[in-house]
Amino acid sequence: MQRAKRLDLIPPYLFGEIARAKAAAIAEGRDLIDLGIGDPDQPTPPAIIDKLYEAARDPETHRYDESPAGDSCFLDACAQWFERRFGVTVDPKTELLLLIGSKEGLAHLCWAYIDAGDIALVQDPSYTVPKVNTLLAGGTPHSMPMTAENKWLPDLSAIPTEVAKQAKLLFLNYPHNPTGATATPEFFAEAVRFAREYDILICQDCAYSEVGFDGYQAPSILQTPGAKEVAIETHSLSKTFNMTGWRIGFAAGNPDAIATLNRLKSNIDSKQFAAVDRAAGWAMLHANNDQTLDLYRRRRDILVDGLNALGWSLERPKAAFYVWIPVPPGYTSMSFTKALLEQAGVLAIPGVGYGDHGEGYVRMSLTLAGDRNGERVQEAVNRIREHIPIRW
Ligand SMILES: Cc1ncc(COP(=O)(O)O)c(C=O)c1O
Repeated sequence: MQRAKRLDLIPPYLFGEIARAKAAAIAEGRDLIDLGIGDPDQPTPPAIIDKLYEAARDPETHRYDESPAGDSCFLDACAQWFERRFGVTVDPKTELLLLIGSKEGLAHLCWAYIDAGDIALVQDPSYTVPKVNTLLAGGTPHSMPMTAENKWLPDLSAIPTEVAKQAKLLFLNYPHNPTGATATPEFFAEAVRFAREYDILICQDCAYSEVGFDGYQAPSILQTPGAKEVAIETHSLSKTFNMTGWRIGFAAGNPDAIATLNRLKSNIDSKQFAAVDRAAGWAMLHANNDQTLDLYRRRRDILVDGLNALGWSLERPKAAFYVWIPVPPGYTSMSFTKALLEQAGVLAIPGVGYGDHGEGYVRMSLTLAGDRNGERVQEAVNRIREHIPIRW
């Protein structure tokens, strides 16, 4: 049987070689320190699990959710949280939509807006979901190169006018995966001006909004005057409350875009288990992630300070749980990843997997399973010092 040709548009899996080397290392019984995966290693707080248990015992939650945009327990809590956290009022009836995790929302937004020949503006480097789904929907992703010099913010003035005119979507993600970069309110204001000029919908992926360190609190693009006319923002409980497996998040912002995305989604999924919605709504209003953030901060400081002692000059990232590391002279992002894995038993992700402008970097994640208090991160630094030849 022949599969759809569009599947051939999915770019080759760049991490295949690394995945094979990882499997080989594990098969040999080597002790691997996995700084690759960006998935909180700590469990969901017990109080949220208790709420799920309680809600799951109510038969009302066992049925299809027939609400227009998601269980009101959840959406009302999201609206209250948005007001409290960002000082922005969103109407839970028209400006919020439940997502089955933000990945699902980002993917379906492409299908709701992109026709053959349309352009989506995507960051390079970036999380790959907007680019791949633009391709699958028949559109063309236009890469916005980002570099350390421009603080990993795209230069919107460098986008050719013809491209801007054909663009339907502008994808942003701050705090940013994989670089840990943050956006300023000035940048968001510039993006809103640009989107208004060219009639483009901005989708700002705010999955890491609550992963901030040293007092940093990420802004919402919806705090920008006029943003609601041209922007939606996706949020997620995955990283905030260690709930990646629960699959819950929401989109907030422009009511037309919310209705458009909902029109597509209501023909594809039937929302989320209402018990998950209720527990997630409770979490939005009552839970916090202070302990997990403390652990990430400890790991971040050990990793950044440890690598700096070996000759790097890294800044401590203010947000997201990644350290974005230039490779030493003589390495590519792939060859350095292989050296780390084969010689030191340390797994990182090659930056080139996030786009051409990720070449020259590797990403290490602070969500290290099995690490209680930074001791495994310290062990990773020790192994790099002992086993990786570096000449600056
Ligand atoms: C930038 C970014 N956006 C979205 C997601 C997906 O998160 P969710 O679990 O809400 O689908 C991830 C997950 O790694 C991510 O890194």
